[in-house]
Amino acid sequence: MDRITPAIGKNIHQVTSVAAEVPQAAPASEQPEVLGQFDYVKTRVVPLRAEHLERNRIVAFNKNSNMSWAFDLLRTQVLQTMEENGWRTLAITSPTPEAGKTVLAINLAMSIAHHTTKTALLVDFDLRRPRVGASLGLPMDKSLNELLASKAGLEEVLVNPTLPRFVVLPTREPVPLSTEVLSSPKVNSLISDLRERYDSRICIFDLPPLLSSDDAMTVLPKFDCVLLVVANGVNNKKEIEDCLYHLAGCNVIGTVLNKAEVQVRSYY
Ligand SMILES: Nc1ncnc2c1ncn2[C@@H]1O[C@H](COP(=O)(O)OP(=O)(O)OP(=O)(O)O)[C@@H](O)[C@H]1O
Ligand SMILES: [Mg+2]
Repeated sequence: MDRITPAIGKNIHQVTSVAAEVPQAAPASEQPEVLGQFDYVKTRVVPLRAEHLERNRIVAFNKNSNMSWAFDLLRTQVLQTMEENGWRTLAITSPTPEAGKTVLAINLAMSIAHHTTKTALLVDFDLRRPRVGASLGLPMDKSLNELLASKAGLEEVLVNPTLPRFVVLPTREPVPLSTEVLSSPKVNSLISDLRERYDSRICIFDLPPLLSSDDAMTVLPKFDCVLLVVANGVNNKKEIEDCLYHLAGCNVIGTVLNKAEVQVRSYY
């Protein structure tokens, strides 16, 4: 895996590298206690495959991974700011596609679940290009698609991928008329329901890129705060300025410079 450099608030933190490694999937026998205080009794518990995670750059599944420290650092800073402000919903977006939002959202949620007492609920709100479920290798016979179509209830579409306090609401396939759907009362009440049900829950929403369609702009005001992922060498100054313009009414919790080059430093 290439590098990731989180920069949040006004502080920029250089991170050397985040390489892929093989995370250890928990055996199915350890599954019953995984939900902790999360009382969705029907939540499906799904084991993850280490090689699949590795292929998809999901490094934070293994609690002791020395590759996930960039996400742990980001987690600490994000949670501090969220707690200070009483924020519980975090949206993740980027100027353009392929900045690494989905990879970051999954690793960040896993890091929260591993190292805090909070439940991390990750929702795939990229209704044009949903990738959370596929990146994790989750079965998605019932997903946000069915929930939005009123063909399944919330408890039927949530998945616990064997990691304590980590719950995912995947989206199996693109949702037609996504902008309209994201501005619907149904989505409003879903976001508030997910937010309000438990104090100790952080809800992370993986959004589409900000400048590619209206989707992100439509739904962003509904979240407590937003994290902007910028791809090193891909996004230019104008795109970042455009994003900040569109995000003027939002609480921008910080910016992550992703896929950054390693800075080779001399002793001095
Ligand atoms: N830190 C990183 N270093 C190198 N490659 C990365 C990094 N983060 C993500 N990638 C790779 O970049 C590609 C895009 O990642 P990802 O799907 O997370 O981006 P995205 O912003 O969610 O894309 P989209 O806008 O299509 O939803 C993937 O191939 C992923 O493995
Ligand atoms: Mg994505």
